[in-house]
Amino acid sequence: MTTRKFFVTTALPYANGNFHIGHIMEYIQADIWVRFQRMQGHSVNFVGADDTHGAPIMIAAEKAGKTPQQFVADIAAGRKPYLEGFHIAFDNWHSTDAPENHAMAQQIYRDLKANGLIASKVIEQFFDPEKNMFLPDRFIKGECPKCHSLDQYGDNCENCGAVYAPTDLINPFSALSGAKPVLKSSEHLFFTLSDPRCVEFLEKWTQDGRLQPEVANKVKEWFSVRTNPDGSTSEGLGDWDISRDAPYFGIEIPDAPGKYFYVWLDAPVGYLASLKNLLDKRGEDFDAYMADPALEQYHFIGKDIVTFHTLFWPAMLHFSGRKTPNSVFVHGFLTVNNGEKMSKSRGTGLDPLKYLSLGMNPEWLRYYIAAKLSARNEDIDFNADDFMARVNSDLIGKYVNIASRAAGFLVKHFAGQLSTTNTTSETWTTESPVLIALGSSGEILESFESREFSKATREIMRVADIVNSYFDRFKPWQLAKDLSKHTELQEVCSNCVRAFQILTVYLSPILPELAQQAYKTMFGIAREPKWEDLRNLADHVAPYQHLMQRVTPEQLDALFEPPALAEPAQAATENVAPGGEAIAPTINIDDFAKIDLRIAKIVNCEAVTGSTKLLRLTLDVGEAQHRNVFSGIASAYKPEDLIGQLTVMVANLAPRKMKFGVSEGMVLAGSHGDEKANPGIYVLTPWPGAVPGMRVR
Ligand code: MSP
Ligand code: ZN
Repeated sequence: MTTRKFFVTTALPYANGNFHIGHIMEYIQADIWVRFQRMQGHSVNFVGADDTHGAPIMIAAEKAGKTPQQFVADIAAGRKPYLEGFHIAFDNWHSTDAPENHAMAQQIYRDLKANGLIASKVIEQFFDPEKNMFLPDRFIKGECPKCHSLDQYGDNCENCGAVYAPTDLINPFSALSGAKPVLKSSEHLFFTLSDPRCVEFLEKWTQDGRLQPEVANKVKEWFSVRTNPDGSTSEGLGDWDISRDAPYFGIEIPDAPGKYFYVWLDAPVGYLASLKNLLDKRGEDFDAYMADPALEQYHFIGKDIVTFHTLFWPAMLHFSGRKTPNSVFVHGFLTVNNGEKMSKSRGTGLDPLKYLSLGMNPEWLRYYIAAKLSARNEDIDFNADDFMARVNSDLIGKYVNIASRAAGFLVKHFAGQLSTTNTTSETWTTESPVLIALGSSGEILESFESREFSKATREIMRVADIVNSYFDRFKPWQLAKDLSKHTELQEVCSNCVRAFQILTVYLSPILPELAQQAYKTMFGIAREPKWEDLRNLADHVAPYQHLMQRVTPEQLDALFEPPALAEPAQAATENVAPGGEAIAPTINIDDFAKIDLRIAKIVNCEAVTGSTKLLRLTLDVGEAQHRNVFSGIASAYKPEDLIGQLTVMVANLAPRKMKFGVSEGMVLAGSHGDEKANPGIYVLTPWPGAVPGMRVR
């Protein structure tokens, strides 16, 4: 077998927050694949880094009263417990603000420029007249020009993945001040992807079979001139704006004072910078390493950042004279308990550190994610009940069960010695679990290689089922009672223990700790399992020692229980439940400022067919378009009572799909905590003089 040489990365997470479960999912996927390759004897450099630059981080740092450098250093300091906790075996973790990245990004830029692919254009850009600064893309929000979902960022749409200019947004507003942005000109630098050389190269690169078929198809759309639903045409591949004006936390553009690389230019360069940093530390030569034609380079990423990785990044590399990735492996999003897609910045649901702090086994999660992942970029859902059932039935009930059942007989009656013969009894047939387990190795190997992890786990559990029913069929507990059957007893249990070792090898990329533990305690082998162990199985077994606990419902309840409520200060003596419920935990003014309350005029109101609770309100909030809001106030108001009235609404609540349509906000009303005992709903109305669109603060 030839030894392959891999350079593998995961997307570089923004250094503006801790990891959420979506990040951990991506790392687990990549880590399983990397461990699998290492088990084959291949060499892998697996690296990550923090994506530190860009306006959002600069603004977050300012808010936190820190320099951006200090801010990202503090985030970086918190990475370790997650990575170690979930057994993610990165060889290096670096930063896009490190010197290697500054130097490489600038060199790539110089090379692109020398190749005639950098152009300068004066463009009009959104400027916040209240904050007096050009608005970074992420701080302009509005409606996606492509799929029309609301509240999308200015650079790309989280819903449909479209990449566009902020000026393409419908009804834009500044997320910093809420002001309507004005256009102002400034000179920007562009990577001219519209150059025929780039188009030709990328059409080939993305369509030559290296990408997942569904990814290649999606990317194809970006090349064609097409007609939009509104009759306008979109251009195909446009030039890419790679500069930002100061103030900006980023890498200075060599020949353009006061201008910085847009964060997405230097972010993927961080892959190379992290690798270089690793090789430097080891005293290896980066250029020589990259120059090896046998080197295979792969990036694991989520479906939301495909364009950056399949268009901009390969073009940057190719036209600066560098090697491009062999492929980009795109995964879908993880949702939690059927929840909405997690927001990239907000995360939700399942807090990875809380999971660990509850003593929940990280390998349960690794197994569960593996059991759900295929090579396609489909979303997967973490479902608590499904998680418990899957882990308990597969890992404990099938896999661990084999060892705990079979090892004892061998220890007790044969001093742990496994049979060397297997010919005298009917136990050595083509149905021998050892042969069956070995027979799956090709399929399991292929499934791991192609990232069809759910297929691999299915096959592994199919074998585990066979081993268990083999054990049941020969009833070792009865054979043990009859001395004349002891050869058979030894053979049956040996077959089961050997099959267990084979399954341990197969599961090792997913369950590295458990596999190592089993190797050590049962077979006395103090190292990780290797694929080649399949050809040289153990011949001795030690007493079974406990390998893994079951998941309990209590753990899952605790995991999803909302954080403990802070006691309101005077709660002890005062009414603890005014209006029928306790005062919510204290928030600060920044928390309150996140809720954008606006004066709204109810321009129309109607009953909702099929619902006795809801009214459909059409609200004017001073925007170009009216909002559609469903409100559970039908028991208290007739539609005609409300039309023409002013009220207060939450204007920045994420739109919510309901049975009857999308609700684009929430109207405020008072009611008792126990509505049955104290009925009555009272919609808020401002004093006369308020005008739609006014903010309530
Ligand atoms: N900083 C950029 C990537 C730069 S790569 C040169 C970024 N960061 S991120 O923190 O928003 O996302 C990091 C990775 O996590 C991305 O691959 C993204 O798709 C992935 N995920 C974010 N939320 C996710 C889920 N809910 N589920 C699975 N992966 C998710 O994008
Ligand atoms: Zn969209």
